Amino acid sequence: MDLARSQLGEKIVGQGLKYLLSKDIDDLDKLIYWAEKLPMPQNHRVYLESAKKFLKDKDSNWYQFAQRLLRETDPYVKEKIGMNFFLNANFLGVQRQNKMAKELGHSVPWAILIDPTERCNLNCTGCWAGDYQRSEELDFETLDRVMTEAEELGIFFTIMSGGEPTLRKRDIIKLAEKHPSQVIHLFTNGTLVDDEFVAEMMRVGNITLAFSIEGFEESTDSRRGKSVFKKVMEAMDRMRKAGLIFGVSVTYTRKNTEELASEEFVDMLVDKGATFAWYFTYVPVGKDVDVELMATPEQRAYMYEKVLEYRRTKPIFIMDFWNDGEISHGCIAGGKRYLHINAKGDVEPCAFVHYATCNIKDLSLKDALSSPLMLAYQKRQPFNMNHHRPCPLIDNPEMMVEIVRESGAYSTQVNADETPEEFAQKLKNYSDSWGRLADAKWAKSCAAVK
Ligand SMILES: C[S@@+](CC[C@H](N)C(=O)[O-])C[C@H]1O[C@@H](n2cnc3c(N)ncnc32)[C@H](O)[C@@H]1O
Ligand code: SF4
Repeated sequence: MDLARSQLGEKIVGQGLKYLLSKDIDDLDKLIYWAEKLPMPQNHRVYLESAKKFLKDKDSNWYQFAQRLLRETDPYVKEKIGMNFFLNANFLGVQRQNKMAKELGHSVPWAILIDPTERCNLNCTGCWAGDYQRSEELDFETLDRVMTEAEELGIFFTIMSGGEPTLRKRDIIKLAEKHPSQVIHLFTNGTLVDDEFVAEMMRVGNITLAFSIEGFEESTDSRRGKSVFKKVMEAMDRMRKAGLIFGVSVTYTRKNTEELASEEFVDMLVDKGATFAWYFTYVPVGKDVDVELMATPEQRAYMYEKVLEYRRTKPIFIMDFWNDGEISHGCIAGGKRYLHINAKGDVEPCAFVHYATCNIKDLSLKDALSSPLMLAYQKRQPFNMNHHRPCPLIDNPEMMVEIVRESGAYSTQVNADETPEEFAQKLKNYSDSWGRLADAKWAKSCAAVK
């Protein structure tokens, strides 16, 4: 289905594509002029206005960012990602999601996170997938069906994690071909991204990669295994040479927060050609995991400030999953903006919340979105009026207990003998102390607004 073409007409889409194919950053004004003509929600208009402001200033980091992306990306990839991300997933998809949400009476997300496999060729310390069975797979037909059902709801952004998704790279390429209007975004350990896979990604044009690293070589290899950092750097070079779009995914812990927050690290990412970075705080998911590895509340606050600074100064798009609650108006999981389907098919609110009340093999995506667990989640969102405390798992753990008990959810982990009450107790010290710090921060920013 080519939503963009059917709804906007050849002429407007053609103009946009023509621009996206052009390598000249100075034509950006034309793109903005064109984008302003598109129907879009009010908040997108606000983003467009601020993009306009930044892009007029040639010394700004955002101008440099756009310049790099436009000049370094392969023309075909630029066209595919431009169409699929900006037009299908955002401008047009969001309108359809909102319409469907009204009709259905529950949220329709912006993205689906799905794990093709639980298997993995690495064994990283504290991995959130470590307590899954490690042998489950979703077959091609199920992945294909979920993506088709997602498109019907206006969802054009499929994220894949796992396990290591590139263990299923042939199927992923087939899915990218079968769903040419979508962006497929993979979280990958990068060790299997070889020349052949790069050539296939070039051919289909609609796949982007987030390479997981933990900092520089020593930090990455100590958590992910010997020589992993080197392999990821080589894979990034292959991607860049081909003109594919990629970024990183980093997990900040008590041990590496300062390294990941350092200017040297962010500059290294820019130098390597990464265009975005996902920052996740480490969450002690699973049995017998190390709570002490969590970044301290002070480290989380430090990361918040550094990310704000880099957004003003560095030509890279940084997202901090837990610290961006102000932007996302709290937690985005539970189907509000995304949900997680694990490799067994269990439909979870979030990659870090290992509970479900249904399995995608038994029902449609639409029905899964109104499963008791998703509804119990959605009716409590936002979980805290202080958007520095968005998460029901690590910031408001009592909420997770309520949700699991009310919905009758089952645990999706192999070691299922830890109750939600025990998990909440384990997180209590952390959430209390982050809560004190976050409340002071929130009061200060509210006072500044007044
Ligand atoms: C579970 S991995 C799966 C995909 C792929 N194998 C990879 O390593 O990117 C997805 C992302 O979650 C991050 N991650 C794993 N365990 C985590 C945890 N306990 N807390 C926060 N992030 C975690 C990883 O570093 C990675 O960036
Ligand atoms: S590579 Fe990814 S899935 Fe595999 S153990 Fe590491 S974090 Fe987990």
